[in-house]
This record gives sequence, C-alpha cells and structure tokens, in this order.
Amino acid sequence: PQHVGILAMDVYFPQRCVSQKDLEVADGVSEGKYRIGLGQERMAFVGDREDVNSIAMSAVYNLLSKYRIDAEQIGRLEVGTETLIDKSKSTKTHIMELLGANSNVEGVTCINACYGGTAALLNSVAWIESSAWDGRYAVVVCGDIAVYAAGPARPTGGAGAVAMLIGPDAPLPLSHERHSHAEHCWDFYKPEMHSEYPAVDGHLSNTIYLRSVDVCYNHFLGKTTPDGSVRTFDYMCFHSPYNKLVVKSVGRLLYNDYVRSPDGCAPELSKALGQWHPDSVAPSTTYADRGLDTALKKLSADVYNAKCAPSAALSKEIGNSYTGALWMNLVSLVHNVRSALEGKRVFMFSYGSGSVATAFAIYPRAPSAAQNPAFTCQAIAETIDLQNRLSSRAEMSPAEFTAALLLRETTHGAAPYVPIEPVETVTPGAFYIHEINSAHHRVYVQR
Ligand code: ACO
Repeated sequence: PQHVGILAMDVYFPQRCVSQKDLEVADGVSEGKYRIGLGQERMAFVGDREDVNSIAMSAVYNLLSKYRIDAEQIGRLEVGTETLIDKSKSTKTHIMELLGANSNVEGVTCINACYGGTAALLNSVAWIESSAWDGRYAVVVCGDIAVYAAGPARPTGGAGAVAMLIGPDAPLPLSHERHSHAEHCWDFYKPEMHSEYPAVDGHLSNTIYLRSVDVCYNHFLGKTTPDGSVRTFDYMCFHSPYNKLVVKSVGRLLYNDYVRSPDGCAPELSKALGQWHPDSVAPSTTYADRGLDTALKKLSADVYNAKCAPSAALSKEIGNSYTGALWMNLVSLVHNVRSALEGKRVFMFSYGSGSVATAFAIYPRAPSAAQNPAFTCQAIAETIDLQNRLSSRAEMSPAEFTAALLLRETTHGAAPYVPIEPVETVTPGAFYIHEINSAHHRVYVQR
C-alpha cells in the first residue's frame, strides 16, 4: 500500500471551558501571565460525568458515524492516553462496545505520557504496511483529561480526544523518514495511583522538550533535506503543553538553522545571533538564556505566524490534551488551510515526558480519483465543523472550574459511585458515566 496515513479525523472536546483571563484574576497572578505568558485563551474541563473511556468513545463515535464507516471495516483499534483509570483494562476494550459484532480487532492502549497517540499511530501505519495487513482500516484515538494540582501548572491543563481513520491513499500520509530522541528523566510522571495529578518539574520538562526539538529537527533534516531549513516546511505542528512553548520551539528551529551553518544560513540569522556563535556558546547551555530567547522570539515571529499559528489555534482554546494535543493541532491546521494544504510539507514534532520524542512529516495530497469514499482535507475540515463546535461551548467561572476539579479529586477511584453532576454538563451526543458499581465496572450511556 502507498501513501499510508490519515484518511479522516474527528475530535471530541468538552462543552465546558474556563477563560484564562478570569483564571488570572481568580488565582491572583499578574495580569497576562496565562494569556501572554503561557499563550492560552481558554481551557476545557470535565467534572465527574466523563473519563478517558467516555471521551475516547465520543471521538470514535463521531468519526465512525460522520464518515459512515462500518464497524466490520475496522481491523485495528489503537489508543494513546495517559489518563489511566485501570492498571490492566485498556480503553481500547471499552471502545469495542461501538464495534457491534466485529470482534476481530487488533491493537491495545499505548502509554508514555503525551507520546501514546503518536505510538498508536505509528503502530497502525506499520500494521497497514506489513504482511499481516488484511485490507481493513485502522482507527487510532488519542486523548486525555489533563489536570494539575492547584499551582502554576494548573492553567496548562485541558481535555479532549482525536479519532483518526488510517489507511492507504490518504490525504495526510506520513513520511517514512523520522527521527526519535528518548532519554531517562523525571520531568513529568504519575507515581501516585490514587491521584490524577502528575508530579511535575515544569521547567525541567520545558528544557527536555526543547532539547528534543533540537535533536529531532536536526537529524530529521539531515535524513531528508541536508541543506534544508525552516523554509523546507510550509507548516508545522508541535506537541503543545501550552502555546508559549510552541512559540519557543519555532524560535529554536531558527536557532538550529543558525548553529548548523552560522555563515551559510539566512543573513538575518547570522546578523542577529552572532553573539551566540556555537564556537563561543555551546548550544546545550542556551535553554535558559533570556537574551537568546528574546532574540529568537523576534526573529521567528513571521515564521510562527505563517507556518505554525494555523495549527496552534485549537489548543489555545482547549488547552493541553496530552496524547491528543499534536493531533488536535493537525486538525486545526486542516480546518484553517483546507484543500490548499495539498502539495505542502508539514513538519510534525511529538513529545512525551519521561521522555520520548519523534519528528516526522506529513505530505498532504489529493487522493486518487478511484478512492471511494473520497477522503480529502476539505472533507475533514467540513466534517469537523470546528468553529461552530467551539463557539457553542459554555464558559464557566473559575469557581465552577475549581469545584469540578475538586469533585474529580475527591471521587477519584470511588466505587460504587453515581456521578452527581447533571447530564446537561455533557455535550449532546457524547458518552458519559452513568454509574460505577461496587466491582468498579463503569457503565456508559450516550447523551
Ligand atoms: N504577562 C506576560 N507574561 C508573563 C506574565 C505577565 N503578567 N507573568 C509571567 N509571564 C511569563 C514569564 O515571563 C514566562 O515567560 P517565558 O517562559 O518566556 O520566560 C511565562 O509567563 C511563564 O512564567 P513562569 O514564571 O515561568 O511560570 P511558572 O513557573 O509559574 O509556570 C510552567 C510555568 C513551568 C510551564 C507551569 O505551568 C508548568 O509546570 N506546566 C506543566 C508542565 C508542562 O506543561 N511542561 C511541558 C512539557 S511536558 C507536557 O506536555 C505535560
């Protein structure tokens, strides 16, 4: 099979959100810290009615129903998440409820912080390219409920899931070339089974994320276009813990272009970055360099606006969806650029703490005329109908947001448990928790 990749996409994000502007006031931080400092506008959240299984089911249901995919056509279902509610039973097995009589479905749940969605996708692409492939589609769903204990990390939460249909002759095929960087570190992890909150060293996680950007970008370019630069790519999608880190990542690409060739890169880079010549300043010492950070922000503003902002818009509205974030950003790009994406080159960067990162590319294209149904970038944009869905959300107060998180915190792992939040807090058509019985069995129904 040729051009294996994403045929269709849909998303699920909660109906409730809180404004970062309101949160700044409620948290008593300086004005602009969350909107300008972190680059976030709003954050999606859920209370006790939804969990990772329900949000994944909602995303898969949207995908299968809107694109009219018959359950029998699915040969693999793979999940990426880090919102674990069971140490053994996979979210994949819950989603089997949506596949009717089709039980011949490979795949399980992949776990490694925010990287699980990418792992699930790469596995599914590999299955289709392998001799084991039986000609059916794969479905990948990735998403999380990102919640932090009260404190500086809390505004970088979020929630949502992305479901993707994988097959050949795709409008969004993945490059065969990629480069990964994995290392052992304690930047973000979840050692406490009785809590949803991670243990996080935020500044360390930022440094390792940016170091992974450096390594993956340079090696990926080395493999694909050794004399390339940011100009090689028309668009970029990064894993997005919060938008400021994405802005910094674009700056870092320009810095790497300079470091690889201080005299041969774009003249404006040589001129502006002279004092950070790699012969005098080791690149590994620059992650906390405020002067360089400021210079890169200025230098990369046009590149960011033209190549990255279209992909960054959705995550600014819903926050970090962890394993879903990179794919939310691809959805945002497809929504904003539509059929004009065809023929372009999209740089992709995935990161999961702990850590594992991969750079690869997507080369959007028009599928062959023979394909039926026709999966196209335009069809994905129209099907997702993002703007309407975003604007029909309910903006809640910081007090309501805090109460919802407190409810999750105090009822986490409880059994038996019947959620107390009204069903109306859930998006019409989405799945929600009806009850959890004393054996911890979760019963979901569709609103
Ligand atoms: N107006 C404008 N900007 C402001 C303001 C203000 N009033 N106040 C602060 N800022 C800026 C700061 O200068 C800083 O900018 P910089 O990064 O360009 O230096 C930014 O806002 C953040 O301020 P800090 O003081 O650094 O923020 P703090 O330490 O309180 O928390 C952090 C930020 C570490 C990102 C925290 O939110 C966190 O731990 N988040 C979770 C970890 C995370 O997401 N890591 C990323 C990779 S791992 C993953 O995906 C989970």
